[in-house]
Amino acid sequence: MRIPLIAGNWKMNCTLAEARELAAAAVAAAKGFTDRQVLLAPPFTALTEVAKVLDGSGILLAGQTVSWAEQGAFTGEIAPFMLKDAGATAVIIGHSERRQDGVIGEPDNRVNPRLRAALQAGLMPILCVGESLATREKGWDETEGWLKKQMDEGFAQLSLDEARRLVVAYEPVWAIGTGKTATKEQAQEVHAYLRALLAAMYDKSLASGVRIVYGGSVKPSNIDELMSQPDIDGALVGGAALDRKQFTRIIQFQAAN
Ligand code: PGA
Repeated sequence: MRIPLIAGNWKMNCTLAEARELAAAAVAAAKGFTDRQVLLAPPFTALTEVAKVLDGSGILLAGQTVSWAEQGAFTGEIAPFMLKDAGATAVIIGHSERRQDGVIGEPDNRVNPRLRAALQAGLMPILCVGESLATREKGWDETEGWLKKQMDEGFAQLSLDEARRLVVAYEPVWAIGTGKTATKEQAQEVHAYLRALLAAMYDKSLASGVRIVYGGSVKPSNIDELMSQPDIDGALVGGAALDRKQFTRIIQFQAAN
């Protein structure tokens, strides 16, 4: 049984006042729902304030990235213990905006060390994978190959028990912030492929337990159909998570099965 996860990634947005307001709206929206988990990933500066608003609500708090190092001379990075100290229990790792050349340009080989540092500290990592438009246009074989490479890199050296603690986010780069959502069929196809990969990398029981969430222009108008797909276990929401009404509707999704 995989509990659906609705995660809001606020990216580089929000004053403290805005963050408090958005967090309070998420608390109100999630109230009474015991069949789903909600998670917020505010910018680092707002973590402690948001933690106060979320206190007792059951909503999870996450960082948007974390350092591979324990602490020390790494200007601009944030250590796992700092995230925990601020109240976070989860962290997004390998988001395409961090990986993309010309945006932040973080090398792919940084993803796994960050992930292992997060696990070591007891944080729940959300590993993002996804293909670019150029890769998708080259066809399914290329897309599969790309996703397999990112999954192999992400899960490198992880034991079965560690791998169990991850959430995978499939975020096709061409659908992020573009208004172009993958169709429910396109998303389901990739999610099923990722689950099959996990079964091959570990075993069937692990593959059926790991949550695979979809991200890329998730909106009130497509959340229900996405959540009705058998292998879509939640959503990682960017733009629509910054709008109280939209995120409330997304939290309150109704799946058809
Ligand atoms: P979007 O972003 O919902 O604005 O497309 C999703 C994400 O980057 O996590």
